[in-house]
Amino acid sequence: MVVNAPILAPSLLAGNHANLSEGLSYVEKSGCSWIHLDIMDGHFVPNLSFGPQTVKDLRNGSSLFFDTHLMMDNPHLYIDAFADAGSDLISIHVEPNYPIVSTLKKIQNIGLKNGIVLNPKTPVECVEPYLEMVDLVLIMTVQPGFGGQKFQPSMSAKMQQLNRWRNERNLSFRIEVDGGISEDNLSICLEKGVDTVVAGTSFYKHPEPTSFRKLVEDKI
Ligand code: DX5
Ligand code: ZN
Repeated sequence: MVVNAPILAPSLLAGNHANLSEGLSYVEKSGCSWIHLDIMDGHFVPNLSFGPQTVKDLRNGSSLFFDTHLMMDNPHLYIDAFADAGSDLISIHVEPNYPIVSTLKKIQNIGLKNGIVLNPKTPVECVEPYLEMVDLVLIMTVQPGFGGQKFQPSMSAKMQQLNRWRNERNLSFRIEVDGGISEDNLSICLEKGVDTVVAGTSFYKHPEPTSFRKLVEDKI
């Protein structure tokens, strides 16, 4: 059984958008190695965030692992842009209608890690066909589009099922959760096999972000 070292990936969406580089430094100072970058297109989700130019400018001067979450109807049209901008991992949603397999392969062929994402209402079986070709599966624990929403505890069944498939099939993809994660529900996720934890609001509001990171990363 493969055990991935647990990682906290703070979501920059919850930082101050008038000074994103400060939000990035704040993450670095907490000792985190990953940052989660939420890209919203205003169609797949009813909100807009930032684009490849912003990611590129953040890349200059940061060695964090850029975990880029594309919430887009047409993510396949933007892989090159986010790869050129310096993403280390690009995850794409399973729900929209576009060539998913070739997009996942393209991300890996460029030399990046790939991920497949599912919304709270999407059955976990929808990502099953992709498990052998991904580095990460991202389970949304809120409806994507906005930070600061409430964690949906019923998503723990998906965590459990993905962990079961991973063990049974001797795979090593990461299991990531995103949305409403805080100290209150962190252990539910880690116990179910989650090894990659996105936290926006709770990270930036935490009085001691370093101890929040340790809560995740020292648990193995
Ligand atoms: C939601 C985004 C999340 C969000 C998480 O659409 O995908 O990454 O930033 O923020 P919190 O932790 O505040 O729910
Ligand atoms: Zn996200």
